[in-house]
Amino acid sequence: MSSRNTIILAAGKGTRMKSKLYKVLHRVCGKTMVDHVLTQVESTNMDRIVTIVGYGADDVRKQLGDRTQYAMQKEQLGTGHAVLQTEPLLGDVDGVTLIVSGDTPLFRAETLQKLFDYHEAKGDVGTILTSIAPNPTGYGRIIRNDIGLVEKIVEQKDATSEEQAVKEINTGVYVFDNKALFNALHQVKNDNAQGEYYLTDVIEILKAAGQRVGAYRMSDFSESMGVNDRKALATATKVMQRRINEEHMANGVTFIDPDHTYVDVDVKIGADTIIEPNVQLKGHTVIGEDCMIGANSEIRNSVIHDGVTITSSFIEDSDMADGSDIGPMSHLRPDAHIGENVHLGNFVEIKKATIGARTKVGHLTYVGNAQLGTDINVGCGVVFVNYDGVGKHESIVGDHSFIGSNSNLVAPLNVADHSFIAAGSTITKDVARHDMAIARERQTNKPDYWSKLPHKPEDK
Ligand code: UD1
Ligand code: CA
Repeated sequence: MSSRNTIILAAGKGTRMKSKLYKVLHRVCGKTMVDHVLTQVESTNMDRIVTIVGYGADDVRKQLGDRTQYAMQKEQLGTGHAVLQTEPLLGDVDGVTLIVSGDTPLFRAETLQKLFDYHEAKGDVGTILTSIAPNPTGYGRIIRNDIGLVEKIVEQKDATSEEQAVKEINTGVYVFDNKALFNALHQVKNDNAQGEYYLTDVIEILKAAGQRVGAYRMSDFSESMGVNDRKALATATKVMQRRINEEHMANGVTFIDPDHTYVDVDVKIGADTIIEPNVQLKGHTVIGEDCMIGANSEIRNSVIHDGVTITSSFIEDSDMADGSDIGPMSHLRPDAHIGENVHLGNFVEIKKATIGARTKVGHLTYVGNAQLGTDINVGCGVVFVNYDGVGKHESIVGDHSFIGSNSNLVAPLNVADHSFIAAGSTITKDVARHDMAIARERQTNKPDYWSKLPHKPEDK
């Protein structure tokens, strides 16, 4: 039976990126370029997916895991040579094979699907996906004959000035009859400007053998963009960001300024949430409905439930339950679990701690390694002293307690429910239910201090 296969080219170093990181591992809106390609391919129902790795093979494998098979290209001798490395896996297969590059992150699954449909309807041995580039420099050009049929693809460096004027480019995506592809690949030579085995040469080879190769021209060039350098990476990120934000808007999310709001591709946002400018939502963050995410907030890999207000704050690997709020200028560090209707005000830092429902931590407070119950009031400037220079220790504060301003709670510590800590106390011993702990020097007033001063303040 005829099968559908995909080859993803991802073995190149990406010299033009001038980077320690291999090209296809650079990220666009939070996801590596090669992962974007694989994700789209996965949704087109393939029987086999093979990724060609070479430079940074281990890193690419680690990124993509067992979502794809791999073929190793030890030396980067060109795109044609790369595809040939999949022969042990695909050479004998009957069916069609889609080829895509790991550096074209913007292709949509629907476009690949349309290419397949077109290819199957035409019945040609190969179909090239082409588009019209406003500036075609750097791409392979599609050379057509007098009656408009594709003759060959000429690479930038091999093109005559007349060929360079052609604006129709090779997107680097093709569908071929699988066996015809491998047959032609064996005939590709490297007598060109770059001394490489070009995949694009199979077009001429197939045509010379009397086979028909067609082209399917897509309408949106931006989707076909190849990323070879940092400038293109920035452009691709802009295109992808617009696409992501428009999809959220279509689902009922308000963006005050979508051009300056940065949302990673896997982020989820509920309807009627409002997102102000310069917000960054990263990784696998999930935002509920009816939230207000204020300007300049950054949220990484966190779960924000419904009706939460976040004002200019930074949240990482944490969660906030319905109706809670935070900020301005507060920080949830990893493992902060914020209960329903909790109020966290300004300059509050919370790490590895649980805050029970309706508890208030209004101002200038650090809570680390602690479990706070419900309905607690934490005053201004409270420090949970969790570190003794060697290890971290835990504090527990029971429901309905009152922690006075400027207190230090030295862990390990257990403050029972319905208890009180007087302002300015440094608490080192557990506090029992209904008790009040006060731990500070008593105030002494020195009568008529003034008359003892050798110089009065006014003398200055
Ligand atoms: C390639 C096409 C060009 C097309 C453009 C579209 C060829 C010869 N040229 O050019 O016609 O317009 O893509 O973006 O195919 N790779 C390997 N092994 C190698 C060489 C490359 O795996 O030996 C991989 C790279 O990692 C990359 C992809 O193949 O993902 C394309 O290679 P690249 O060098 O970027 O080709 P372009 O010059 O962009
Ligand atoms: Ca490229």
